Amino acid sequence: MWKLYYIVSFYVGAVTCLSVPPAGVAPKIKLNDGNSMPAFGLGTWLGFDGKGGVHKVTSDSVEKAVEAAIDIGYRHIDTAYIYFTEEQVGKAVNKKIKNGDVKREDVFITTKLWNDKHARQDVVPSLRESLAKLNLEYVDLYLVHWPISTYSNNTVNEIDYVETWQGMVEAKKLGLARSIGVCNFNVQQLERLINSSDVAPAVLQVEVNLNLQQEQLRQFSRDHGIAVMGYTPFGSLFPSKATSNSPPPRVDDPELVKLANRHGKTVPQIVLRYLFELGVVPIPKTVKKERLMENVDIFDFELQAEDKDLLKSFDRNYRTIDLRSFWATSKFYPFELDE
Ligand SMILES: NC(=O)c1ccc[n+]([C@@H]2O[C@H](COP(=O)([O-])OP(=O)(O)OC[C@H]3O[C@@H](n4cnc5c(N)ncnc54)[C@H](OP(=O)(O)O)[C@@H]3O)[C@@H](O)[C@H]2O)c1
Ligand SMILES: *[C@@H]1O[C@H](CO)[C@@H](O)[C@H](O)[C@H]1NC(C)=O
Ligand SMILES: *[C@@H]1O[C@H](CO)[C@@H](O)[C@H](O)[C@H]1NC(C)=O
Repeated sequence: MWKLYYIVSFYVGAVTCLSVPPAGVAPKIKLNDGNSMPAFGLGTWLGFDGKGGVHKVTSDSVEKAVEAAIDIGYRHIDTAYIYFTEEQVGKAVNKKIKNGDVKREDVFITTKLWNDKHARQDVVPSLRESLAKLNLEYVDLYLVHWPISTYSNNTVNEIDYVETWQGMVEAKKLGLARSIGVCNFNVQQLERLINSSDVAPAVLQVEVNLNLQQEQLRQFSRDHGIAVMGYTPFGSLFPSKATSNSPPPRVDDPELVKLANRHGKTVPQIVLRYLFELGVVPIPKTVKKERLMENVDIFDFELQAEDKDLLKSFDRNYRTIDLRSFWATSKFYPFELDE
């Protein structure tokens, strides 16, 4: 029974968490605006199409995955305007609500503002467009997808994210987004944003995985009560994502396999558990039912100090998602160019 009713109690800066979830159901963390967020979510980005764009949805795979995820116990879904998956997420969530399987207030839905809608007056209309696709009256979290602003043809136009943030605050005041936050901001940009407004971001979503453990950003966020969501949590773990430049480990790394076996878990589960223990909210994407179950089944064990030493040793400040070729010319480009 201890496996089913494992008590998770931990402290993430200002974010306290104490709950008794069944296996497969993530505990919740408190946000700096009083709302709470499940500490684990489902990603729904289908990846790059190899032609400088995003894979378009060609089947109902995301809709089916979101339905299965909710059945399994997922209560947090991450989408974005630019993923072209908002409609499928909305269909699945509304079906589950209609069937009485969940209530609207039990699911946490995140979407994001795209770069070509950064003018203050474009933010609320763009969120309304996303809400129409999602067929929802509000989202739980609305994120600025990048600090960079572009025209719709993808060339940079340098609208200041401080202006964009004023539109985000309006969206929150209107109740269209319960919480607001940002993605892909660096420490300086976060600090400048916080200085510019009475409303601090509740969440920072950035890449976090074994090769990019983001100690500095996590520390800054902890100090300012900002919750960190970790995207691309598997980094280059799977050969399908790794390039010839990607540092180790791969999923078959002997030391990681040994560690996982010791806990009766898989290597992907060990990685997700590690992020969770760092205080990061992982949002792994999969459209496969067995993997949906595997990924969320991380709330019934704990890593040992020596496990964490090994996992920490893979930190290389290496990005799996590299968008230099798109926007490095922007004065708001957030990452170091020689990384
Ligand atoms: N804010 C941002 O700028 C930003 C950027 C990138 C991503 N994100 C968000 O973060 C989410 C996650 O990141 P991501 O999609 O880049 O990468 P990810 O979740 O680290 O990896 C997804 C890949 O891993 C595979 N996979 C998932 N679970 C697996 C398992 N247990 N065993 C083996 N393979 C597995 C998936 O394939 P299958 O689907 O075939 O299982 C998919 O190819 C995105 O979907 C998106 O919602 C946000
Ligand atoms: C992109 O659009 C802007 C605004 O319409 C225009 O000034 C710019 O020349 C365009 N750039 C390219 C590469 O088409
Ligand atoms: C933000 O405000 C603090 C306190 O006034 C100041 O020390 C800091 O330099 C400011 N940071 C930025 C990036 O503007």
